[in-house]
Amino acid sequence: MIAPHGGTLINRLVAENEREALLAKAAGLPSITLNSREVSDLEMITVGAMSPLSGFMTEADYNGVLDNMHLADGNAWPLPVVLATKGTDAAPEAGTEIALVGECGTVYGTMAVSSVWAMDKERELDVCFSGTNEKADHGHPAWGYIETLGSHYIGGVISVATLPSYEKHNDYRFTPVQTRAAFEEKGWETIAVFQTRNPIHRAHEYLTKVALEQTDGLLVHPLVGDTKADDIPSDVRMECYHALLNKYYPLDRTMLGVYPQAMRYGGPREAILHAVCRQNYGITHIIIGRDHAGVGSYYGTFDAQQIFDSFKPGELKIETLRFEHSFFCKLTGGMATTKSSPAGPEDKIFLSGTKVREMLQNGERPPAEFTRPEVADILVRCMQVS
Ligand code: ADX
Repeated sequence: MIAPHGGTLINRLVAENEREALLAKAAGLPSITLNSREVSDLEMITVGAMSPLSGFMTEADYNGVLDNMHLADGNAWPLPVVLATKGTDAAPEAGTEIALVGECGTVYGTMAVSSVWAMDKERELDVCFSGTNEKADHGHPAWGYIETLGSHYIGGVISVATLPSYEKHNDYRFTPVQTRAAFEEKGWETIAVFQTRNPIHRAHEYLTKVALEQTDGLLVHPLVGDTKADDIPSDVRMECYHALLNKYYPLDRTMLGVYPQAMRYGGPREAILHAVCRQNYGITHIIIGRDHAGVGSYYGTFDAQQIFDSFKPGELKIETLRFEHSFFCKLTGGMATTKSSPAGPEDKIFLSGTKVREMLQNGERPPAEFTRPEVADILVRCMQVS
């Protein structure tokens, strides 16, 4: 089985017999309220999905990540995973302990604060999200998030008594320990993962099918943390994945699980984040297609593939399965990419996201060459209700 990123699968969940003592201690500490992204990150850190992180980043880790995509301990890491003050709240002092509380009032655990520093929001936006532009502007969704934060980041190791609980997808929330055990049981040695924040259209399906030709199994691993308001909600997507997988996938070689991360829209840097976290889940190969984790025109179409080549061999154990732009090709009568078909522009069935949304809102099914009818029906129904 592939090693976790950094070598050890982190577990920050205290043992059952230590829970009450930790919660009693937390009750007597000053607290900080975590927003929903921070709760997702807390969950991922706690269960080892963000190994080797054992808490929210310190200033040294943060600066390393921004400056050279490495943590202070030398492990590759592409994007901040940070806890912020909110509004005009004062930051706690380094050397103190704080309780970690959700907006719903749930006390998750505590953090030993080892680092507190003032945010430079513009620097973070520019360094992490500019992509091919000279500067990322405030229209980037990352700014929409960063600007809601207060003035300081607070880093340190966390101890967790209670994991976040959810109303949805609970049968599909597998921790890295659980996915690793499942792969072992299935006898899968090579596993491809499909990260997605969309319903699976034919182009997506094609990538996963090519991956299935080359690996022992496929984990369809949709991101279900926060996404932009105009992305399709995760419960609608899950309905689509079930309909598609049940009819069109070999279920003995395909597994569905949800990925709790909040979307950063960080293009190439986020592709690395998706990859190292998936390595922690026991995945050996990650599918990276066109403009992975992209938004608008901030990133070059294949930047999220090329960035993997900037790391030294062995730094990332997970490998990429890279794809050109895929489409239904009228000339060859099947799914293809420019690597496998001589199709001209008139041979490609391509629909923009805006066009698809428009069709669905008008109650029109996109063509079967673009989306399977079973998926289209669910989307038409949901788009008309919302
Ligand atoms: S993402 O934010 O999760 O990357 P999306 O769900 O659209 O967005 O994409 C999932 C994966 O499929 C990504 O690796 C993306 O690069 C790839 N992809 C999406 N559409 C295509 C396409 N037409 N051709 C090739 N790759 C694609």
